[in-house]
Amino acid sequence: MLTRRPLIAGNWKMNFDHLRAVAFVQKIAWTLKDAKFAPTEVEVSVFPPFTDIRSVQTLIESDSLGFAFGAQDLSPFDDGAHTGDVSGEFLAKLNCRYVIIGHSERRQNHHEDDELITAKTKAALRHGLVPVICVGETSDDLDKFGASAVPVGQLRAVLAEIPADSEIVVAYEPVWAIGSGQAATPAQAQDVCAALRSVIAESLSPETADSTRILYGGSVKSGNIASFMREKDVDGALVGGASLDAEEFAKIVQFPRHVIA
Ligand code: PGA
Repeated sequence: MLTRRPLIAGNWKMNFDHLRAVAFVQKIAWTLKDAKFAPTEVEVSVFPPFTDIRSVQTLIESDSLGFAFGAQDLSPFDDGAHTGDVSGEFLAKLNCRYVIIGHSERRQNHHEDDELITAKTKAALRHGLVPVICVGETSDDLDKFGASAVPVGQLRAVLAEIPADSEIVVAYEPVWAIGSGQAATPAQAQDVCAALRSVIAESLSPETADSTRILYGGSVKSGNIASFMREKDVDGALVGGASLDAEEFAKIVQFPRHVIA
């Protein structure tokens, strides 16, 4: 069994212009440095709005901060008459490593369905970006079908169309837990993440299932991250609100100091 390097991902959503973004990334770096925490055992990635990415890239690369960065969305197309869309090719040129795909806010507010999310995932892979594929159930789904049926179905739809050795990250984000302050229990997160890993094994391959990071997202904070990271199939977190506070985010990144094996 491979060891999966934990990934703590900060999804900034539509917050911070490029000037604040630079100051903010600097603050995370200083906070971790002061705490003498080198981001080697944990991979740290930020997901700024499109207009910030170039500035964040320049800072991270010129100061060798060791953070990864990515975008919050991309076009399923590579170029052409798609007003307002951003191509994976452009993101790859900015050295983005990741791109979030199928976040529940895009599924809801932009009516993104499994077909579009699959096309976006293929576009990411075409350009060497690692898609962070988000899946999760609403509270209605939870009542009707339990926790894992909807996220399992969403993931299966995407994985049916991509190569078996694709590098992906999966984020399990119960919609009712996002921004609500009411996180899933670690046991529930573990159950769903284990079910998602089985889908990867069946749809792609057992090797890919072993090496793929599966994140939990939804009201993650410094106070609960350790309890999620103790679960065997949870390999990191996709953090929204708490990723906008540099000290809080730096505490989340330092979770290994609080996880008792
Ligand atoms: P939250 O958001 O941490 O604010 O709940 C998570 C997300 O939407 O990715």
